[in-house]
Formats: sequence, structure tokens, C-alpha cells
Amino acid sequence: MTFDRESLSLLDEALAVLADGFRDLPQIPTSIDLAQLREPLLAAAQRLQNNDPYHHPLYIGHMQKPPHPVARLAYCLTLWINPNNHAYDGGHASSVMELEAIGEIARMFGWESCQGHLCGGGTLANFEALWIARERLPGKTIAASTQAHYTHERLSGVLGAPFQAIPADRQGRMDVAALESALHSREIGTVVVTLGTTATGAVDPLDQILALRSRHEFRIHVDAAYGGYFTLANNLDAETRRALDLVSQADSIAIDPHKHGLQPYGCGCVLFRDPDVKRHYLHDSPYTYLSTDDPHLGEISLECSRPGAAAAALWATQRLLPLVPGGVFAQGLASGREAALALYRALAVDNRFAPLFRPQLDIVVWAVRADTSSQASLLARAFYIATKKRDLHLSLVTIPKAMLEAAAPVRTWDADTITCLRACVMKPEHREWMTEILARLDAAAEDV
Ligand SMILES: Cc1ncc(COP(=O)(O)O)c(C=O)c1O
Repeated sequence: MTFDRESLSLLDEALAVLADGFRDLPQIPTSIDLAQLREPLLAAAQRLQNNDPYHHPLYIGHMQKPPHPVARLAYCLTLWINPNNHAYDGGHASSVMELEAIGEIARMFGWESCQGHLCGGGTLANFEALWIARERLPGKTIAASTQAHYTHERLSGVLGAPFQAIPADRQGRMDVAALESALHSREIGTVVVTLGTTATGAVDPLDQILALRSRHEFRIHVDAAYGGYFTLANNLDAETRRALDLVSQADSIAIDPHKHGLQPYGCGCVLFRDPDVKRHYLHDSPYTYLSTDDPHLGEISLECSRPGAAAAALWATQRLLPLVPGGVFAQGLASGREAALALYRALAVDNRFAPLFRPQLDIVVWAVRADTSSQASLLARAFYIATKKRDLHLSLVTIPKAMLEAAAPVRTWDADTITCLRACVMKPEHREWMTEILARLDAAAEDV
């Protein structure tokens, strides 16, 4: 496989445009000695060969895909000046680009105004949302489902906030009846609603959780780090659509442009419905906030230095691929989901496998049928290795018995969990590659 190198000429052209903006400065002699850079750079390229092919459609393991070429180029371009979006003083243009880009994400969810910014990733975005939740409701418990990302419990611990895990139903969604009975204690201040769990892409029933707010008072933080962009897809099942259509009613949202937004790693986003949350960030910095009286991004975010390059990459991507239903970006998400459904259907009629349930987004999880649960786990691990040998890259996930009973993959339960196979079918090209993927799955199953 060769990587695209044609785009490098475009980078060259864009660098000339960027340089033109600084043409009145005295020239600085370029001191780059290419011969010197060559050895470490080629050594790094050699070392980087030791990776799974995350960029290739035969990789359907974890939530990984390459950034869009325009994101890669805009990020690279920005590195020549390396702005810091902590303050306008450190990154005038890229701070404005960040505000424009996050404004478009907020509008995708139906928010015309909000408070928010980019950050390192989903964990940071959730951390900031939970921190604001704790500031608003000190001493109150943060609740999330047992299928929510593991960091919610850890982050609550860091914040010194009590945490309560709410059981998940058979499809990996928050169990609303269990949530309601937990709410009776009046201890819960914030409910984390996951729209796209990490393990299976399950979407918590936001509509039913919102309905509980007529009887109980609590904040809602939506963790849409993985699934948020699917609000643009036109091929969701009705209940998934219902949940995603109601995101605007949440108090805060985490979404990761570095998952489904075609961005390089280091690009998460947190949004708050109430612009007044900025009062919780109040601090004074004698060094930075000099150029304007507008709030600098560093005055409304937990982190200090942040890459202006991430903002430029996101801004350029959204300029090329606007976040609108029916657009090219939305069609890419729908293609991945279509491929995931094709994989699910193929597994459902294959008596060697037991897919858990119809995917709500684009993640498919299945067990290998066996007599006992421990044998099913061993077979899944063997199958995982066999597919790797055939250059097809899956991942493994441990699933509790309750979520597996409907699929009935085993006759006897001698363990409470089964190691299952998992595919994140998240590249638009997966639709065209599904026949090849299924052929390799079949061949690997024969090997096992
Ligand atoms: C639902 C969800 N929330 C949060 C995270 C954490 O995001 P990050 O890895 O960007 O910190 C993930 C990561 O997989 C996730 O799937």
C-alpha cells in the first residue's frame, strides 16, 4: 500500500500563501540541514512500520481511522508557526477558527449559542463537564451506566464526587427503571448519558431519561464522544434517532472530532448549554490575556496550552465537508453504518457465530458459538489471531452474561462473561470492502 504523496505539493503551495502574510519581516536564513534530518526521520519511519494498518479498510479493530487529507495538511501547515490557542496573544487566527468550528458542531446539535472549546480528547471533555457539574451541584452523585466509558468513574474520583453505576439493559443501554429507582435517593445530581458506548455503540435512551426530569431534578451530561456525529446520518433506527434528536436538551456535551470527525488525535470538544458556566473558570493570568478584552479560550477552559493546529485542521475539514444532513460527511457516516449492518446480517445467518444485537451505530460485537462460555472466550481469542494472520484486524471485548443471553451463544455458563469479537466499521470505504472482509472472516473461521 502506498500513501498519498501528491497532496504534498498542495502543502507547498499553502506554505507560500502563509509565508506571504509575514513578508514584511526581515528574512531569517533557513538553517535546515536535510542531510542531518534524514537519518532520524527515516529511523522513525522504520519504527512506525511496527503498527497495525489503522488507515486501511481491513482494519476494523478499535475506534481508529486516518484524518481526512485536508485535516492532515492544515495541521501540518499550521505547525510552521505553531500557534497556541490558550490566548489570542498566542494564536489570533486559530482561536477564531476554533470558535467558528465549535459553533458549527453546536449548531449540528441545535444550539445557536453555547460555551465550549476544543480539548485533548473525550476524557478531557468529559472531565471538564463533570467538573462543572460538581461546581454546580457540590456533594451530589454523578451517575453513569455500567457500559459508560470507564473514565467517568475515575474522573468522579479525581473530582472527589460520589459516583454511582447504573445497570445496563440487555442491549448495553442505561436501564431507565434502575436509574429511576436510584434517583429516589435524591443523591444523584448529574446523569451521564452515553450516545454510543465504547464496547458496542449502544445509545442510552435519552428521551426516557429526559422524561424523568419531570419527576426528579438532575443535570444531564451527554457523552457523545463516539456517537455524536451520527445525528447527521440518515439510516439510524427510530430509537437511536429519537435519542440523537434530543441532544440539545442536555446541559453539556462531549464529542470527539478525533473519532468520527476525521481529525488527528488531540481533538476533543466540550460544549455547555449555559454560557454562564464561564464564571466557574475565573482566574487571573498576568502573562497572557493582553491583546483583547474578549474572553480568551484559556479563560474558559481547564487546560492551558492547546494546539492551534488542531483548530485549523478542524476548521478546514468542516469548510470542505460541512456538518449538514445529506452532505458528503453525513453520507460517509451512513456508509460505515450500512457496512456494519451488512456484517451483522452475515454473522446472524452463520451458525458459527452469535452477534449480540443489531448495531445502533457502526460497532458490531459477536461471540463464537461453543458448549461453554470459557470455550467461547478461548475460541474468540484464537479467531482474533487467525484473522490477524489474514491481515484482517478485529478487537476483543469482554461482555457480561446478561447482555449475551438473548444471543444464546453457549449451552452452559461456566463464567459470567465471554470474550467476544468486535468490529468498529467506521470508514466510509468499509461498504465497498465488506465482501473482502467477509471472505477473510470465513477463511479465518476455517483455520480455527
Ligand atoms: C464513549 C466514550 N467516551 C469517552 C471516551 C474517551 O475518549 P478519548 O480516548 O478521546 O479520551 C471514549 C473513548 O473511546 C468513548 O468511547
